[in-house]
Amino acid sequence: MIKTALFAVTASMVMLTACGIYSKSASTATIPSYTSNVSSPDTEVKAASEMELTINGKSFSAVLENNDTVTALTQMLPLTLDMSELHGNEKYYYLDTALPSAPEKVGHINEGDIMLYGDKCIVVFYKSFDTTYSYTKIGHIADTTGLADALGKGGISVNFQTAGITKTAYTAEDVRNLQNFLLNRPAEEDLTGKPYDLDSDGVWSVFDLCMMKRKVLNTDADNGSDTLVVYFSRTGSTKKIAEYLIELAGADSYVIEAAVPYTDADIKYQDDNCRANQEQNDKTARPEIADPISSIDSYDTIFLGYPIWWGQEPRIIDTFLESYDLSDKTVIPFCTSASSGIAASEKNIAALVPIGEQLTGKRFPASASKSDVKDWYDSLSLKKADQ
Ligand SMILES: Cc1cc2nc3c(=O)[nH]c(=O)nc-3n(C[C@H](O)[C@H](O)[C@H](O)COP(=O)(O)O)c2cc1C
Repeated sequence: MIKTALFAVTASMVMLTACGIYSKSASTATIPSYTSNVSSPDTEVKAASEMELTINGKSFSAVLENNDTVTALTQMLPLTLDMSELHGNEKYYYLDTALPSAPEKVGHINEGDIMLYGDKCIVVFYKSFDTTYSYTKIGHIADTTGLADALGKGGISVNFQTAGITKTAYTAEDVRNLQNFLLNRPAEEDLTGKPYDLDSDGVWSVFDLCMMKRKVLNTDADNGSDTLVVYFSRTGSTKKIAEYLIELAGADSYVIEAAVPYTDADIKYQDDNCRANQEQNDKTARPEIADPISSIDSYDTIFLGYPIWWGQEPRIIDTFLESYDLSDKTVIPFCTSASSGIAASEKNIAALVPIGEQLTGKRFPASASKSDVKDWYDSLSLKKADQ
């Protein structure tokens, strides 16, 4: 009760002060384009970065060059290319997009060389020979034992992976950690030893962040369900409820992450000028989402979860809602809060964009159990209609 009153009183004060908008430039502050060279023991510069090729179930390690071509290529990994045969000594594939190139007359090709011909053609050589052609060097497979056999005589599918990162599962927390690091923000945890050098160039940079974001996006659960649980959670309470729901509904999931992550200071609501308060105080604020889900077309039902901020949904939820066509979707809001209800946010959501059908949502306390969530889920008319 005390907390409710506190929020009510302070909320009205914040609304009345109409303090400065959390400016677009601040909320979308870009990551510096510099490559930070602050290294933890795990990020010491390595002699070379590596790539792993898998051909017919056999793995080959390639040592990579240190050039712009490799930087761009490694950002595209993993790649599986259906490579064509040429001249009994090479396999090649034309990419859709051009890579940076700096061709040179290499004079001699060694078995195991990986080159870029022009700016789109990736070539893997499995025989040595002299050449007058120009290429940009990408890398070299040192141990070519079995390479020619694996590549065979015709076209072949070749998988290219950045060596050493394929087994690392990154989370939204890792994205936040690396982003904070690059923005020189205080770390929320000790980052020593974190595997954040995804492109193996010896430093943590914006390229690593891009690769990590792509991986996190790709690992959001997609199990072919027609139900999607979308949620934003800054301190984990909504996340917990969402995870129960994902399990109960057998749903796919998508986590809304801010392009500029919310720091502890950003959500310190006792501070009138903190970012969250400024955003909530501005109905038009639309914080940018880090990795927007590309499409929600395949889903009929969207559970939408968020914490209550000043009695309402965080503005980043509005960013999400305005980014997709929900006119034929069933949307079911749910939230966590210290004490406030969900009604005001439900009203906002209903008024913001056309929604096929919006079911009555549910507010949970942070302490809600899985059976609380199950009781609610079982009670939904949506569920009854399925039975
Ligand atoms: C900026 C801010 C504003 C908040 N405003 C309210 C509020 O108006 N009413 C309320 O009951 N709780 C409020 N809370 C508490 C959160 O709703 C609550 O801690 C929630 O469970 C956090 O969810 P999360 O862990 O998923 O981020 C607020 C928290 C923050 C950070």
